[in-house]
Amino acid sequence: MTSPHAYTEAEQAAIYKVIAERRDMRHFLPTPIPTALLTKLLQAAHHAPSVGLMQPWRFIRVTNPELRQTIHTQVNEERIKTAQAIGEFDTTARMAEFMRLKVEGILDCGVVLIATLCDHREKHIFGRRTLPEMDMASVSCAIQNLWLAARAEGIGMGWVSMFDPEKLAKLLNIPNGAKPIAILCLGYVNSFYKEPMLVEEGWAKERPLSDMLMDNFWQHDEKSE
Ligand SMILES: Cc1cc2nc3c(=O)[nH]c(=O)nc-3n(C[C@H](O)[C@H](O)[C@H](O)COP(=O)(O)O)c2cc1C
Repeated sequence: MTSPHAYTEAEQAAIYKVIAERRDMRHFLPTPIPTALLTKLLQAAHHAPSVGLMQPWRFIRVTNPELRQTIHTQVNEERIKTAQAIGEFDTTARMAEFMRLKVEGILDCGVVLIATLCDHREKHIFGRRTLPEMDMASVSCAIQNLWLAARAEGIGMGWVSMFDPEKLAKLLNIPNGAKPIAILCLGYVNSFYKEPMLVEEGWAKERPLSDMLMDNFWQHDEKSE
């Protein structure tokens, strides 16, 4: 039965389309994003669900070019440490392959946002007593809303997590207890990647839903890595 609350077919198609065609972008055009559009996108983020309605997301807009440059330097430092760690865990060939990947577009994109967990999160117990990381899950929901709304507007977004949160927090005067969790690069793009860039570049393969789905009990076979 079709629910009487369902959206029209065209509206549903748009939802599934944006979910399927959202991409993590690392190549941008320098065209600035109009302030009204950025506000609209942030409002979409702010509509996200959150544990106990704590709304733990805080966004910092980076408008100072020097600050943007320093953030880029911090990410590059972490990129090199990540490559070294891959080299130790895997092979030097894999490390070299990683170094060839483009993992951010901080200097090219129109807008850089830092998504941060708020401070004083310990006051929020509802839904977090056994799972304190539900604050992180809530900010992730906000980021996903932003990502989807941006794609619908033809704006690309890249999520960069290669940074030292303590260093970045110090740079941006983020108070104790709060924590930056994402550098978000937003901007106009030439085109959207057809597949995840890591697939296009041959770095990773996507696994099907059937690999992730179990009935009743955990299936101890190939499901986990
Ligand atoms: C929590 C999170 C952190 C991520 N961090 C990075 C990152 O530091 N650098 C990067 O290039 N991509 C990063 N990504 C993007 C993923 O690589 C990307 O989502 C994945 O390859 C699938 O591609 P798609 O988003 O285009 O579907 C991150 C994605 C998520 C959800």
